Order: sequence, then structure tokens, then C-alpha cells
Amino acid sequence: MSAYVILCRAFQKLARLGQSLWPWREPIFLRGPGSANGLPAFIKSLGLRRVLLVTDPGLMRLGLPRPLIQGLEKAGLHCAVYDKTAANPTPRNFEEARWVYRQAKSDCIVAFGGGSPMDCAKMVGFLVAYPYKKAHKVKGVQPLRLWRAPPLFAVPTTAGSGSEATLAAVVTNPAMNAKYTVISPRLRPNYAVLDPALTLGLPPRFTAQTGMDALTHAVEAYISRGHTKRTDARALEAVRLIFDNLETAHADGRNMPARDAMLYAAHCAGLAFTRAYVGYVHGIAHALGELYNIQHGLACAVALPHVLMAYGKAAHARLANLCDAAGLSTPGQSVADKAEAFIRTLRILNTSLGLPARFTCIREDDIPKIAARALKESNPLYPVPRIWRQAQCEDVVREIAKGGVTDDH
Ligand SMILES: NC(=O)c1ccc[n+]([C@@H]2O[C@H](COP(=O)([O-])OP(=O)(O)OC[C@H]3O[C@@H](n4cnc5c(N)ncnc54)[C@H](O)[C@@H]3O)[C@@H](O)[C@H]2O)c1
Ligand SMILES: [Fe+2]
Repeated sequence: MSAYVILCRAFQKLARLGQSLWPWREPIFLRGPGSANGLPAFIKSLGLRRVLLVTDPGLMRLGLPRPLIQGLEKAGLHCAVYDKTAANPTPRNFEEARWVYRQAKSDCIVAFGGGSPMDCAKMVGFLVAYPYKKAHKVKGVQPLRLWRAPPLFAVPTTAGSGSEATLAAVVTNPAMNAKYTVISPRLRPNYAVLDPALTLGLPPRFTAQTGMDALTHAVEAYISRGHTKRTDARALEAVRLIFDNLETAHADGRNMPARDAMLYAAHCAGLAFTRAYVGYVHGIAHALGELYNIQHGLACAVALPHVLMAYGKAAHARLANLCDAAGLSTPGQSVADKAEAFIRTLRILNTSLGLPARFTCIREDDIPKIAARALKESNPLYPVPRIWRQAQCEDVVREIAKGGVTDDH
């Protein structure tokens, strides 16, 4: 084992120790078709009176937030709306929404949408609590201080990011051409409303991509060395539900049970990865998103089988368990056979969802840069099954470009 690997593992152990002191409060969640209709009365019952609703322009055009806004007003609550959240939210979004929050004298925040509006709302809560902080300066793990953020209610309309369950917000700063994460236990929403009726109109392409993002969260959390009994249970549940329901939700968007299962699966995957972390799939997917503007879930879907294959034996035992959880194992299979069967099924799943096996847009000249960015994000933070250096990561990115099979065991 090299000195670098020893240092990474030591860092991960220390981080785990430090985080065991964090307040791991989970959001209280309401689930089921129509559950969002009960939100206004619930907010009122908590003695709150003035809501800032954070959403995005696409959802406003579709009119999806309208019933909730009307419900809030009918319940006698004041509702200000910030609907300019970008597809990958920026510090400018956070500053603007904080301004609306202050102008409207709001006392709580409702995040309505996919990962983008939810992350935006989380950052607004943070910035309201720290009125003197500038949005573009908030990065990385935030020190644990006793600050009071306004109560945050998250209403996801995609089944993917799981942001309603996590301690993180992903920030894109176009001025610096950078995408980074802000992490704090206090960023986690207090309440999550999992209403599958809101996801019925999600187009098949987004259903596939966001669903594969959720599956990647569950898989990376499960094979992470940072896993706990609790994160394992969540990740296994998510994998089982996604294998049982993603293709149905993709083929028949109005199938309520499949949408309900997917929304809950994405939530479970969020609960798992926020504690156990993700891995190199996310490191590479973020780099591909930055360079080629590839949608996050799509980048994860394509990278996932390649990265798992490249982990080799280090991930076999855990992947074999996932193969069992997904109901893919056959009697007499060895651990290695099960791991390979699981990876093979991921490739088949991508094909059946109409997703590609590779990215031809990756230029050979860019590969060192992609690998460097992926490793900068991942090492030493993510407790991946095997720690890679630049050359190994470049090989995997090359396979993602070619669509070949990376197998180094
Ligand atoms: N904080 C976290 O823990 C975390 C985790 C993973 C991803 N993320 C971030 O989340 C973002 C991605 O989130 P996402 O994949 O949910 O997409 P998104 O929120 O960016 O939404 C994508 C598009 O789908 C549309 N949309 C959303 N719900 C819809 C619905 N029900 N019907 C029709 N259209 C709908 C939106 O208007 C938007 O145009 C990225 O910025 C990513 O970095 C955050
Ligand atoms: Fe993700």
C-alpha cells in the first residue's frame, strides 16, 4: 500500500470520527399521492405565516407549483415566490432569493422542484442564518455553529438527487467555471414531502437520467467503506425499488405506484449517500458535467458500470449483495459471478432506458483534465473501495469514451 493510500484512508477515518459527533437528524417525511396538498395546513399548524417558495422557470411554465401556491394562500399564509433557479443553481440565485426572503419578511422556505431548486432553497436558508456571508464565498464543509436557519420543507418533483434528504448543496459558479459542494448538517431540510403525483409528468428522458442518479447514489453508498448498518439498509432498499420500478416509470410515466416507489427510493438513496458518501462515479460525472454540460444523471448512468468494473475484486463482495437485493442472482453463482452479473445488468438497464454506453464527445486531450478534476473532488474524501491515482482514473475515463470494458483483476 502506498503512502498516498495510507494518508487517504487515515483522512477518511478521521472524517468519520468527526462526523460521528454531528447531529444526524433525518427529515420528517410525508409520503403518498396528494401529500403535498396537506402541506399548507401543516405549515400553519407550526405557527409559521410567511412562506418563500423556491422553484424553477420550467416548473412555473408547466404550472406545477400553482396548486401549492393557491393552497398556501387559501390557508391564509403569505407566499412569495422565487422562480429563477438555474438548472445548476448559482450564487447569484442564492443572493436573489435571499433578497426576496427578506423583502417578503418570510419565516420559512418551501423548496419545490428537482435537485436544483432544492439546493437553491437550502443555500438560501443558510444565507438567511448568516446575513453577512456572501453566497459565492460559501464552499466545502461548514463549521458546526449554533445558527438558526428558517424551517425548510422540501417537495421533490424528480426522483433522483435525493437532495431533500442530504446535508449537501451543489453550487455552480459560472464566473469561476467551477462546481462544488457545500456541506453542513444544518443544510438538511426539516421536512420532506414525497408526493408522486408531482412526478407523473416528468418526461421519460428525465425519468431515466434522474432514476440512474438515484441508483448511483445507492450503489456508491453501499460499496463505500464509510457505510453503516443504517446506510446499508437504505441503499439496499433503494436498489431493490429502482430495479423493480424504474423501467415501468420510464415506459409509463403515469403509473402512480412506480412513481411512488421511485420517489421513496431516491429519498432512501439520499439518506444513504449523505452519510456514506459517493465515489469516483460522481467525481467523473461532475467533471463531465463541467466540461461537456452532460446532465448529471446521464453522466452517472454511463460511468457507473465502467467504474464498478475498474474497482475489481475490491468491490466484489458488496456488489454480490446488491445482485441479491436486485433479485438478479441465480443459484450456485460465485461472489465474482454475482458482481459481474450486477454490472452487466446495469449496462442492459441503460440500454433499455435509451441511454448510451459511452460518450463519444470525450476528447483524448481532455482525459488528463477530467481525471484530475475527478480525483481532486474524490481523494481523499470519498471512502471508495480502491483508491486511484491519475493514470488509473485516465484509463477508466478512456473506457467511458470508448464504451469498452475496463477489467483489471
Ligand atoms: N444536494 C444534493 O445532495 C444533490 C445530490 C445530487 C444532485 N444534486 C444536484 O441536483 C441538480 C439536478 O437535480 P435534478 O436531476 O432533480 O434536476 P433539476 O432540478 O435540475 O431539473 C431538471 C429539469 O427538470 C424539470 N422538472 C423537474 N421536475 C419536473 C416534473 N415533475 N415534470 C416536468 N419537468 C420537471 C425542471 O424544470 C428542469 O428543467 C444538479 O444541480 C445536481 O448537482 C444535488
Ligand atoms: Fe448524483
